[in-house]
Amino acid sequence: MALTLGIGMGYAAADRSYMTDKGVAVFYPSGYDATQHEPSPIFVNELKSAGDVPSEWNLSPEFSISGGKNVVRIPVGKGVDFYGNGEVSGPLRRNGKEVRFWNTDAPKYEADEGRRLYQSHPWVMGVRPDGTAFGIIADNTWKSSVTMDDDIVFESEGPAFRVIVIEKESPAEVLKVLADLTGHIEMPPLWALGYQQCRWSYFPDSRVKEIADSLRINKIPSDVIWMDIDYMDNFKVFTFDKEKFPDPKGLNDYLHDRNFKAVYMIDPGVKVEEGYWVDDQGTAADYWVKDASGTPYVGEVWPGPCHFPDFTRPEVREWWGTLYKDYMATGIDGVWNDMNEPAIFNVETSTMPEDNRHLGGGGLASGPHLRYHNAYGYNMVKASRDGILAANPDKRPFVLTRSNFLGGHRYAATWTGDNASDPALMKMSIPMTINLGLSGQPFSGPDIGGFFDDCTPKLLAQWTSMGVYFPFVRNHSAADTRSQEPWAFGSETLDVCRTAINRRYRLLPYVYTLFREAYEDGMPVMRPLFFADVKDSSLRAEHEAFLLGGDLMVIPRWAENTARPSGEWNRILLEDTPDDGVQANLYQRPGSIIPVAELSQNTAEYNTDKLTLLVNLDTEGKATGRMYEDAGDGFGFRDGQYADYTVTASADGNDVTIRLSQTGGNWNKPPKSIRVGLVTPNGIKYTPWTKGDVVSCKL
Ligand code: GLC
Repeated sequence: MALTLGIGMGYAAADRSYMTDKGVAVFYPSGYDATQHEPSPIFVNELKSAGDVPSEWNLSPEFSISGGKNVVRIPVGKGVDFYGNGEVSGPLRRNGKEVRFWNTDAPKYEADEGRRLYQSHPWVMGVRPDGTAFGIIADNTWKSSVTMDDDIVFESEGPAFRVIVIEKESPAEVLKVLADLTGHIEMPPLWALGYQQCRWSYFPDSRVKEIADSLRINKIPSDVIWMDIDYMDNFKVFTFDKEKFPDPKGLNDYLHDRNFKAVYMIDPGVKVEEGYWVDDQGTAADYWVKDASGTPYVGEVWPGPCHFPDFTRPEVREWWGTLYKDYMATGIDGVWNDMNEPAIFNVETSTMPEDNRHLGGGGLASGPHLRYHNAYGYNMVKASRDGILAANPDKRPFVLTRSNFLGGHRYAATWTGDNASDPALMKMSIPMTINLGLSGQPFSGPDIGGFFDDCTPKLLAQWTSMGVYFPFVRNHSAADTRSQEPWAFGSETLDVCRTAINRRYRLLPYVYTLFREAYEDGMPVMRPLFFADVKDSSLRAEHEAFLLGGDLMVIPRWAENTARPSGEWNRILLEDTPDDGVQANLYQRPGSIIPVAELSQNTAEYNTDKLTLLVNLDTEGKATGRMYEDAGDGFGFRDGQYADYTVTASADGNDVTIRLSQTGGNWNKPPKSIRVGLVTPNGIKYTPWTKGDVVSCKL
């Protein structure tokens, strides 16, 4: 077909299209130049034709050039609700919104009036009134934007790009295809699901120990302490300050002895300094991003003038990976990659010039920063993950990143950047984390308590009381703000935070199973309420109440008049996590069974030897549930070293029988002590503990 691209505002149909699978179509514009986009960072495997797009196919992108930009319009019609868009500020439902894909250091989400944040996910999910759903991927790393109205419109400053359209019966099916195309997350180490304490920065090392001790003394279940930039010697990456952190191995041993893991920050900017081995190596090998004239680009970050590794180059990624070897050998358990938009100080754009040059390699063409900017963090965390895995091949790597790109969930978890101690931003962290989950990133969460500004006792209590139901649970605050640990505001706030965190640890069997579901099916861990009933239009915009997995509805205490799914979602209150009037209200889905552990103080102590099965029968007197467990680290689970249980409950008259059966894995665990908590509108009725796998009780 002859196309008229470039002439006026006319749109043209795709030049070429094919199906990769049932319900997955790929559309190419005329003049598509694969070297400008491929290999794509988004996909695990390059897209391949499996046949023609059927004639009845509904959503067909139209291509055009307007104002010097390559434009793709996908007419979707009225009545569609939009979600996804990756990391975005604002509401859950994205109708009428514009998102700019240009990764940006965006304090308080204020840059460009909230249109740009730290990550780019050129992805939109649409849900129709009947619950059928579609997803659109713009396979494009170049600076671009999207708007969503009756049409979805992508506009790019780069060359014409292809578009992938997924058509399915439900949002969950769309997300499964998204995961099949862009990759499933790896199982995280169990410790990364525990409570984590951070601050910019805990130093010197004695202060870190004090924080660890305070967590234990105050009986705050916790797993991780975070080391922000001040552990480094003059902010030089892969170094330790000789005075403040003279013995990193000793510090990490101290933390490990108390069942803590240690996560340390690594930024991309390498201080320009002769004699500093990282800078010397990178300069000798010519590994830096270049400016337009071909000279290594220098930009300012924490250490002052810095060089920036050109992570588009495979040999640079490999080199960066090797730097982690000795570093991790000090006993570091996880890595925090920050400032990787990349953020640059003292320039108006807060990043490097668009005409900076990246060399590429491994099939990737060289190109300007305009093309590779959005993938800078992505390529960095890819290098980090590989390096960490090579350093510790028997451990599951844990990387947290601020910047990323669609597909980057394969390499790193994320947090939602520099928010503030502001109730509005606490509330916004719900739709932000949900939309990340609806964009293929199931493992994320905000700085609990807020990063900038001083937190208040009330805000910390409220935020922790809902934050414990997010996938990633970390309290973090900026330098020069008041202390924000759970005990920093007196005993009342401490008690509320402890209760909330206790609940997190008791729910770990359920939460871990949700990560297994994310790994298997690309299902988000935190889900929008409308997943409870995708046809119920009253749930579509709800973003105060949310779901943790499919079975637990969380309604923060401050949320008033939230939408509610129909059916008898009964409130659950775990015995030793009293209601203090601040805790979120939890409701269990009818027909579900939620596994709950005894309280532990950290995931090393955590076990499921004594297991409570919370059973909320449906109107037919039935319920089912699942519990997945494995060693919580390492890769034995890939060879069957895990146990996957199916739990069923069924009522016959007043007699209820509950069965726990291992239906997957070849881990032979000793019989558990189990009991059932029958969830009723008037509270939970517990059976006595029994050893075995069947419990009978009366309604
Ligand atoms: C950035 C990060 C923040 C960190 C700070 C210092 O602002 O987003 O989390 O504490 O840098 O490293």
